[in-house]
Amino acid sequence: MPEASPGPASVPADSKATTTARKSDSFAAKLASLPKAELHVHLEGSIEPASVVALAARYGQEVSEREVEARYRTPDFVSFLEAYKWVTSFLRQPQDYALIAGRLAEQLLAEGVVYSEVTISAGVMLLRHQDAAANFRAIREATEPYLARGLRLQWIFDAVRQFGARPAKDVARVAVELVNEGVVAFGLGGDELSLPASDFRDVYDFVAARGLRRVAHAGEIGGPQSVRDAVEQLGAERIGHGIGAALDPNLMAWLAERGIPLEVCPTSNLRTGALARQLGTASTEDATLRRHPLPLLLRSGVTINLSTDDPAMFETRLTREYETLSEMGLTEGEIVRVAEAGFTGAFLPHHEKTALLEAFRRQADLLDLP
Ligand code: ADE
Ligand code: ZN
Repeated sequence: MPEASPGPASVPADSKATTTARKSDSFAAKLASLPKAELHVHLEGSIEPASVVALAARYGQEVSEREVEARYRTPDFVSFLEAYKWVTSFLRQPQDYALIAGRLAEQLLAEGVVYSEVTISAGVMLLRHQDAAANFRAIREATEPYLARGLRLQWIFDAVRQFGARPAKDVARVAVELVNEGVVAFGLGGDELSLPASDFRDVYDFVAARGLRRVAHAGEIGGPQSVRDAVEQLGAERIGHGIGAALDPNLMAWLAERGIPLEVCPTSNLRTGALARQLGTASTEDATLRRHPLPLLLRSGVTINLSTDDPAMFETRLTREYETLSEMGLTEGEIVRVAEAGFTGAFLPHHEKTALLEAFRRQADLLDLP
């Protein structure tokens, strides 16, 4: 893979992530300074209200930060998708994507992230008749300087499930075109209940045959069968969310045996109403972190890594997601295992993954973490 590996994965000695904390610090402070990986974060879900205001102004629209915040606070999954559509309507040119990509890179560094696979809603770009490759090249250009600051990025091109298989194939073609420029995987997001996985089988076969890795959102609002279908029919190597798997002990054992990781995003699950749906409660107030299935999944042997999904929309950040793990009752050892799984699940060449894992373990040892 020539250009897809633009540099060494090892973290520069001056990286923000490997500094400050000491053995005597609190567990939270240690976690903050631990080099982390984030595998499930949407570029378009990372646009802070101030950036939305600036983008809207570019197109002569006056929007206040308060309005953005209100739009981002959605009661259920359908209105979340509406808000996502709304915010992406201000992304019209490559420079808009460059702006938000640079800001996301800053946010990731501030959270101690040294490696991330960022999802790009290429399906939305194509729906709007944009040049997805040009947008992507602007994103890359804006974020390349962050490698020298200790942030290694790769990209996932996401199709939108409810748009159907044909538009998904168009996304797949562009993703394949960019496979040597940092696009590492193909994914499927949007409304999981809209169309069955089987509709996208050919598209997933197409990308796999051309060197892309495969992921899919499944078991977010859907049940165990949706997760199973994503793995069996689409060959998904990691599952976005996957919390619906907790309803089926056989499926959890199957995922554990196959080593298929779930990218769990607890705050997202609260904010989209996904957890409430999984728990079968109409009220989002009953769907609290204490009832989140992450501990059950983890203790059933399923590999879990942790992400923010759409950090600006859900008013969260990665270190906050780690706090949710303590609130769910995970032990420090379990939390460190979740952090490590961010690296083991990465779509990186072996030597780069090993280098990042070693840096992670070194820092964990220095901090006396379990
Ligand atoms: N696109 C962005 N965030 C998403 C989510 N949580 N589920 C499905 N599609 C998405
Ligand atoms: Zn997602």
